[in-house]
Amino acid sequence: MCGIIGYIGKRQASPILLDGLRRLEYRGYDSAGMALFGAGHQLELVKRAGRIETLRKAVSDLNPQGTSGISHTRWATHGAPTDENAHPHQDSSGKLVLVHNGVIENYQPLRDHLIEEGHVFESQTDTEVLAHLIGRFFDASDEADGEKRLIAAVQAGLAKVKGTYGIAAMHVDVPDVIVGARLGSPLVVGLGKGEHFLASDVSALVAHTRDVVYLNDYDIVTLSDGGYTVTSHEGRPASVTISRVDFTEDDADIGEFPHYMLKEIYEQPASLQNALRGRLSRDEATAVLGGLNMTPQELRNVDRIILSGCGTAFHAAMVGEYLMESMARIPTEVEIASEFRYRNVPTDKGTLQFVISQSGETIDTLAALREAKRKGMRCLGVVNNVASTIARESDGGVYIHAGPEVGVAATKTFTSQVAVLTLLGLLFGRIHHLSSVDGLEMIDALEAIPDQIREILKQADKIKAIAEKHANAEGMLFMGRQLNYPVALEGALKMKEISYIYASGHPSAELKHGVIALVKPDMPSVFIAPDDAVFDKNVSNIEEVRARKGPVIAVTTVGRTELERITDDVIYVPECPTFLAPLLTVIPLQLLSYYTAVARGCDVDKPRNLAKSVTVE
Ligand code: AGP
Repeated sequence: MCGIIGYIGKRQASPILLDGLRRLEYRGYDSAGMALFGAGHQLELVKRAGRIETLRKAVSDLNPQGTSGISHTRWATHGAPTDENAHPHQDSSGKLVLVHNGVIENYQPLRDHLIEEGHVFESQTDTEVLAHLIGRFFDASDEADGEKRLIAAVQAGLAKVKGTYGIAAMHVDVPDVIVGARLGSPLVVGLGKGEHFLASDVSALVAHTRDVVYLNDYDIVTLSDGGYTVTSHEGRPASVTISRVDFTEDDADIGEFPHYMLKEIYEQPASLQNALRGRLSRDEATAVLGGLNMTPQELRNVDRIILSGCGTAFHAAMVGEYLMESMARIPTEVEIASEFRYRNVPTDKGTLQFVISQSGETIDTLAALREAKRKGMRCLGVVNNVASTIARESDGGVYIHAGPEVGVAATKTFTSQVAVLTLLGLLFGRIHHLSSVDGLEMIDALEAIPDQIREILKQADKIKAIAEKHANAEGMLFMGRQLNYPVALEGALKMKEISYIYASGHPSAELKHGVIALVKPDMPSVFIAPDDAVFDKNVSNIEEVRARKGPVIAVTTVGRTELERITDDVIYVPECPTFLAPLLTVIPLQLLSYYTAVARGCDVDKPRNLAKSVTVE
């Protein structure tokens, strides 16, 4: 999704904006640009299709000066990735500049009306329409104070808009003022010493400050030399909470790894320890989750659970369904968030909804949260980004504390989401029927997982060799049973999104219901077949594939060496209780997709067409 960063202060703005854009690259983009206001308040506008490096070269050639500016990375929604369609966009006068994240749904009628008034457009974007709209209100105003005039023009322009936006606007007549506004697309203010920042997310700010103000929907913020003010879209003072970002610039750095994705795969022993830290009580043999904001009585009255999320978060929710039903015996259903928001799901007072989201900004998941709350349901969040929109609008929840995940492909946040759902299963299970002995055994098994992941990571070279063997496969099938079926889906998603090999995930038994028609020598099948109650069933399915000359890669438990006789490659994971298997069996699949993508020369951290946080519908 698009990235925004703005700066007002005493330092030269262009290096700050370029560095901020670089830290927002992971959000996904296809063009970039910036507008600077020089010492003489002249406007310098530079924008280019392609990577930020292209913009950097153009900026260095022009060497624009200026201590205030706004910049943007664009993920194309309306109009191809071209120089003209890149942001910032200008109004008719060329004096107003605007960057925007989101979708203006009614941009066409607005554009037609503006054209009738004589406006001429240079791009096909919805954003340029908003720039002309705000510029028109600015030019028509008789307000003498430039800052007030710009704020009023932004308010008036946004009042005409249907859709979502996170914007930053500046005007030549008030070059030391940035006006920002949000509805549905995140914006956060960075509070520096004598300088202020405005960005789409905190990763662009932590190099300068960890003190931030997260804007809410309908907030309007004004940054100037004198500081910042936040009002509602009608101009009333808005409540402001200063938050402290819970990670540093170093945490978000790539370190010695070739890609963020590999770094984040290797971070999983530590990120899981963070997810569990302080949340396992041996005295009570249960999980301790203070953020749920629910009493034991309220928790006991929960008689149905709905879990919603998108993509990887949805796969974690699917694991959660098995966990809640097996550990706590609570009927649980999972729904893709974008489907839940339109489904008229029957609920009653005992239904509890969880939404799962790494970014806490996914618009479909946010919509599912709001739909649940509209129905009067309590809705809790399982979120990574602290103070994100979903975290703030939930009735409580659990932070997964995975730290910043920069690679577009979710890895450590999947295992941390599953770990938190396991804690919830333990908590609800101990409220209902699990004994303290059961609880202590589960705690012991959970605490062993980080070291067990370390054991799996030692097989990276072996997994790399397997990946290189199949790097030119026409497609890949991933199979698993029970709570390893969601792991099969997750393994297929990883393979698809970073190596671009078409891959699909299936319950192993579904093979004979159609999938097996795809089996052939250049279509490898990956079976997640740990040592559990359905191991023999998986073996039968493997035999079915082998009989049709399909290559087989198996992920199984140490000791089940019989699989070596009937497969091409076996990756072993340490022994663990069935309910914890996904935390281990997913690791080889993450590495398999990573090394396959590297072998294919793909852009592992910024795969084509994808964004890290999907804030448009
Ligand atoms: C997973 O690798 C993808 N990056 C994507 O499916 C992601 O899980 C999905 O967009 C949900 O994102 P969220 O967890 O931030 O809500």
